[in-house]
Amino acid sequence: ALPNRVTLCDVGPRDGLQNEKQVVAAADKVELIHRLQAAGIRRLEATSFVSPKWVPQMGDNAEVMAGIQRRSDVAYAVLVPNAKGLEAALPTRPDEIVVFTAASEAFAQKNINCSIAESIERFAPVVAQAKAAGIKVRAALSCAIGCPYEGDIHPDKVDAVAAQLAAIGVDHIGVSDTIGVGTPRRIQQALERALKHFPLHEVSGHYHDTYGQALANVYASLEVGVSTFDASVGGLGGCPYAKGATGNVATEDVVFMLNGLGIETGVDLDGLVDAAAFISGVLGRPPVSRVARAVLAK
Ligand code: HMG
Ligand code: MG
Repeated sequence: ALPNRVTLCDVGPRDGLQNEKQVVAAADKVELIHRLQAAGIRRLEATSFVSPKWVPQMGDNAEVMAGIQRRSDVAYAVLVPNAKGLEAALPTRPDEIVVFTAASEAFAQKNINCSIAESIERFAPVVAQAKAAGIKVRAALSCAIGCPYEGDIHPDKVDAVAAQLAAIGVDHIGVSDTIGVGTPRRIQQALERALKHFPLHEVSGHYHDTYGQALANVYASLEVGVSTFDASVGGLGGCPYAKGATGNVATEDVVFMLNGLGIETGVDLDGLVDAAAFISGVLGRPPVSRVARAVLAK
């Protein structure tokens, strides 16, 4: 049987907006977050504390965090690549931090300028410090299926890096298909490797939709019991270090499918479409998600 409840983490404000060419005002990011929480989203990635030289779009991280009218039932997560990032993030009181590495050496080098082994070494004290401060630590494992530089990634790589992340005390792993090349069986194989090192409720799927496989991959993940997913309102997103990769699976597309399956999310579809329409207006282009387009055309 499939899980009867799914938890969605909307990564639109972070993954969605980190890749935009145009500057998006902090006030618009905050408004997007407010609309997401009004729609019933209870976990979201608000921003990232990375180097503004690397990703200028997230340079307003502290301003965004300060502008949010917090709800006590919403978990606000931020990306943190190193100790300097944690130091900057802590005063903004995130509920969760997300450290991020890759199952591909080449991608780790391009994205965080170090090897996988160095990233684990770098994260160990960050994880310890965050947990001592009562902050949950998630890890994103990029290129769990394929890499823009190395091609196919073997599930053994997922296994090995997941083991290292568990060993340094990371609470949760997000199996990430950065470039959207995963197909259902390959996704299940990657998840099964992560599940050797993390409990079922601490493994999530983060699927980009570049090749149109993301929704099928969410379904395939449900089949192996995984019930936590990242998704991005309006299908926004991409990674500056994975050229041509498009957005995450759209939150509203996932919610529509789960509604049809009778699986609870606590998220209101109309509210999500409203959030998608809002950010699309800011960006000056229609949402890419099929559900948002269909609902808005009515
Ligand atoms: P580096 O250049 O090797 O860092 O970058 P460094 O330690 O040598 O420091 C160089 C300069 O950066 C110094 O400043 C530091 O102070 C500063 P300077 O002395 O030259 O003036 N610096 C920082 N500033 C602010 N915040 C920080 C920070 N750290 C150093 N945290 C670094 C290494 C990791 C910082 C860099 O490579 C970086 O910021 N990378 C982040 C890239 C990124 O954000 N990628 C997108 C997010 S990941 C993603 O999208 C994938 C995901 O969605 C899952 C999936 O789909 O796969 C999560
Ligand atoms: Mg991503």
